[in-house]
Amino acid sequence: MEIFRNISLKPYNTFNIDVQTAFFCTIDSPLCIVEAYEYAREHRIPFLILGGGSNILFTCNFEGLIAKADFKGISFVEENKDVVLLEVKAGTDWEDLIDFSIDNHLSGLENLTLIPGKVGSAPIQNIGAYGVEVKDVLHAVTAFDLQTAQYKTFTREECNFGYRTSRFKEEKGRYFITSVTFRLSKAFFPSLSYEGLKKYIESRGIHPSLENIRNAVKDIRRQKLPEVGVIGSAGSFFKNPVLPSADFEVLQRRIGEIPHFKSGNNVKVPAAWLIEQCGFKGLRRGDAGVWPGQPLVLVNYGKARGEEILSLANEIREAVQNKFGLTLEPEVNIM
Ligand code: EPU
Repeated sequence: MEIFRNISLKPYNTFNIDVQTAFFCTIDSPLCIVEAYEYAREHRIPFLILGGGSNILFTCNFEGLIAKADFKGISFVEENKDVVLLEVKAGTDWEDLIDFSIDNHLSGLENLTLIPGKVGSAPIQNIGAYGVEVKDVLHAVTAFDLQTAQYKTFTREECNFGYRTSRFKEEKGRYFITSVTFRLSKAFFPSLSYEGLKKYIESRGIHPSLENIRNAVKDIRRQKLPEVGVIGSAGSFFKNPVLPSADFEVLQRRIGEIPHFKSGNNVKVPAAWLIEQCGFKGLRRGDAGVWPGQPLVLVNYGKARGEEILSLANEIREAVQNKFGLTLEPEVNIM
């Protein structure tokens, strides 16, 4: 395994932040994980595992070793007349997995199209969009436990999934996910719980097939979100605040009508709305900005530094806190 020195991280993060890491290596076999981790321990430097770099904001140079997961591949592990279990290596591009599932007429992932990143990162924050979360189709996760130096396979229940969280996020840095197994369905049941998707399909008279749903989601995303690879971003920067129903009612009495979604016994308030109400939608400070189509997304229009994006994020948090008394928690990992 080769360890490189003073590498620019610009190609390795979707915010396109131009910082350096002191040490960098790619992990293409299980043995490499142990080697890389030992190297960082011996040299007493921080160790960071990186997937597609699509959920991270670097605010300074990284004075440690970054290990980038690089094993790819999709294989059928089990199949019956109704479902298929697909084992997917962590370094596989998320969109390649979607392509594979559509080509093989397997349903479950189509609403999650165009989410940037690698398969191994998907369970960490339980990625979700358009009414589906990865936990809904996930069967198991295999990871290397850096604490015990052993491999472990977690069932879906053992992953402790929640809204944009999991045990891999709670115990940050402990696990190196090597593969994810998905349970996909041979029969197609469209998932149309997201109102905007249902309306899109119905208003255009589109037949809700596997491919059509995927294309509809692609189209909706393109209308709202910045194009990955063109404009720097990491998707939603904050999580939507979730509050007990009683607190929400108090807030609504004070503020007036607020868009909201039921989430068990709680209420989810769209952070995008809160941010827009505070006047940040479309705002730009130098090259750091709030995306005009979806204010939950912060963007780098070119040469923004990580600190500039962070400072804009902090300004937004403060404004939302002052106006609504709600705390916005970042969804993105800030380094
Ligand atoms: N809204 C506004 N102004 C806007 C846009 C949205 O007020 O300019 C309000 C509206 O009330 C709208 C609501 O926000 O109904 C929700 O907006 P949207 O459906 O776009 O979803 P979101 O809650 O803002 C979440 C995910 C996205 C995912 C979309 C679609 C989080 C943190 N984000 O955003 O995921 O694509 O739903 O399902 O839960 C990501 O995690 O990186 C991400 C992009």
